[in-house]
Amino acid sequence: MYSKEEQRRLFDLSKKLLAQPEPTDASSISELRETIIYHEWRYYALNDPVVSDFEYDMLYKKLQAIEAAHPQLVTPESPTQRVSSDLTEEFNLVEHLTPMLSLDNSYDAEDLKEFDERIKNYLGLPADLDIEYCVEPKFDGGTIALVYENDQLVRAATRGNGALGDEITANIRTLRSVPLRAEFSKFGIAKAELRGEALIRKDVFVKMNEQRAADELTLFANPRNAATGGLRTKDPSETASRRIEAFIYQLGYAVDANGNNAFGLLKSHDDTIDLLGKLGFKIPQDTPPNLERKVCKNITEVAAFCVEWQNKRESYGYEIDGMVVKANSLELQQRTGSTAHHPRWAIAFKFKAKQATTKLLNVEFQVGKIGSITPVAKLEPVALAGVTVSSVSLHNEDFIRNKDLRLGDTVLVERAGDVIPYIVKPMEELRDGSEQEIVFPTNCPVCQTQLVRAEDEAAWRCENPDCEAQVIQRMIYHVSKNAMDIDGFGESQIERFFRLGWLRNIADIYRLDYEAIAQLEGFGEKSANNLRAAIEKAKKNPIHRLLHSLTIHHLGIKAGKILAAEVQNIWELKDWDEERFRQIKDIGPVVTHNVIRFFQHEKNVEILKEMESLGVNFTQTEEDRPKAVNADAPLVGKTILFTGTLMKMGRKEAQAKAEAAGAKNTSAVSGNLDYLIVGEDAGSKLKKATALGTVTIMTEDEFLELVGG
Ligand code: IVH
Repeated sequence: MYSKEEQRRLFDLSKKLLAQPEPTDASSISELRETIIYHEWRYYALNDPVVSDFEYDMLYKKLQAIEAAHPQLVTPESPTQRVSSDLTEEFNLVEHLTPMLSLDNSYDAEDLKEFDERIKNYLGLPADLDIEYCVEPKFDGGTIALVYENDQLVRAATRGNGALGDEITANIRTLRSVPLRAEFSKFGIAKAELRGEALIRKDVFVKMNEQRAADELTLFANPRNAATGGLRTKDPSETASRRIEAFIYQLGYAVDANGNNAFGLLKSHDDTIDLLGKLGFKIPQDTPPNLERKVCKNITEVAAFCVEWQNKRESYGYEIDGMVVKANSLELQQRTGSTAHHPRWAIAFKFKAKQATTKLLNVEFQVGKIGSITPVAKLEPVALAGVTVSSVSLHNEDFIRNKDLRLGDTVLVERAGDVIPYIVKPMEELRDGSEQEIVFPTNCPVCQTQLVRAEDEAAWRCENPDCEAQVIQRMIYHVSKNAMDIDGFGESQIERFFRLGWLRNIADIYRLDYEAIAQLEGFGEKSANNLRAAIEKAKKNPIHRLLHSLTIHHLGIKAGKILAAEVQNIWELKDWDEERFRQIKDIGPVVTHNVIRFFQHEKNVEILKEMESLGVNFTQTEEDRPKAVNADAPLVGKTILFTGTLMKMGRKEAQAKAEAAGAKNTSAVSGNLDYLIVGEDAGSKLKKATALGTVTIMTEDEFLELVGG
């Protein structure tokens, strides 16, 4: 795409443009476009930017400013023209220039060997001949077809039924890894159709869902749905906000100005992909460390490369469900041809399924730390993407009823990415009538107390605080990372010490007999001393940790911190009435009620007294104290909301800065909102705030300036 010299020139040019004061004339417009397109290629196609996001933003803003001053100079290929303001009303059906075929599947080295033999057989080639293959990931996103005419992107479509697809040009134009202009003409190509896959990086997806959770929007099920949904939205700015990227893996059609085949000098699939890379597309890379594409000299090498990828699939940045093996020679591809369904010269090597079916054998009911009953399905063990699954959570009674799960059902189980396996659905068509209803218990499976279910809760609950299961779970929670964070103390030790009669409640944790522990099998002096050190350390914890570790329902980390900031000593809370709680913003009636109830229980007070006498810290520490907000801090009494993707700081960091400046973070645009801070690709919130006209809208930089860094 760009030679070394060219890249150096563009880099130097960028620095020069960045150093220039705000341009008023249009003289640098083409230089700005050239450098921005270069940086988009480095960032989106290579994943290897050479300038900071900030510098890229600055170049972009300079270009926007010039274009605003000289609208007659705006061209459709300008980097600013990726999102058009008009909404796509409806998708038109368009015909692909050549049909988009499917791929035949293979699952192991044996299948691949047969595929190789079939080709040789079909062409009458000797059985011991080595055919060269090009192998690349089978990307798991939404398939797209791009048409370039006279070097311009003129059309983009979904795969559709292979012959016809939905036209999604406006949406695809927003993807920065798709060049709006590519110099096909330099290679004698007047019109071309490219195939590729639109995807969202796994880490980007996780962040996006976190942001959606913060914005109280429904979460996407997986990167693939988020990508395919993003391609088909009616609002291109929504597509843009999903950070979709497109890998191009096939040149499906190429003709010259006279309509003649223009594959010309291209000899192999590998050549084709290299060419597309040179033209600026994001392609599977053929150089380490990211060896995505490899030319293999024979099918044995292909099999090894496929297995290598199968093993590292989870650590790869994108979801892939296999590898695609393509005979490398275009001439050989031509001779081999296609069936109506798939090319004979290519095959997919499918990774071990992430979905599997198995039998639902039994349901066990587990009791949690606050008595919630969780049904857990016991399954006939089944291999799923590298692990054996024999047990999955069914969450609650409604989950079972909504899916109509029955004992003895064959169920579809899925495990995607790092996600915990879950039951997708029962296979109703496989029922033979012997399946049985799953009966939810009416009494606690451990202590037999009658279960209750509050109207607004999903869980049935055992309300006996002395229920053995709850006592153990509470202790496990108490020592866990988010609570008292006692290193090296976990579920198995707690259960063991409980069975030995050493632990009856959380206070006992602070009076363990380390000499006795050292005598236990598997322990010894050293581990016992380590445990002692960890527990001694925990005794000095700030009180917000202690508050959180008491498993008071709904008193999470945040409420723990708020309460800890309000008291000199934990005991003060014991004397608080509802009115006192009401004075604290962000502490609602539920937490208030639960804390009051906790202190009304004589037994809880006893346990706390014991803990205090055993040396556990009960007084506010430096870490608990509220960060003082100056009365003349810049945002005192203001409400603020962040939207879009922030480039200079994380969302949490930004919110903390706003809070430190005296502002209150909110989650929705309303008449009460004072400031909206807009990151990249802001969507509906920005529109709404603009429409309201009462909200001060600021960029990230303006915000940082306001709060002082
Ligand atoms: S080649 C004629 N290469 O897999 C060649 N397809 O069943 C046909 N896919 O939905 C496709 N990654 O979009 C090819 N590197 C890759 C691919 C790939 C994903 C998808 C393709 C289609 C399906 C083929």
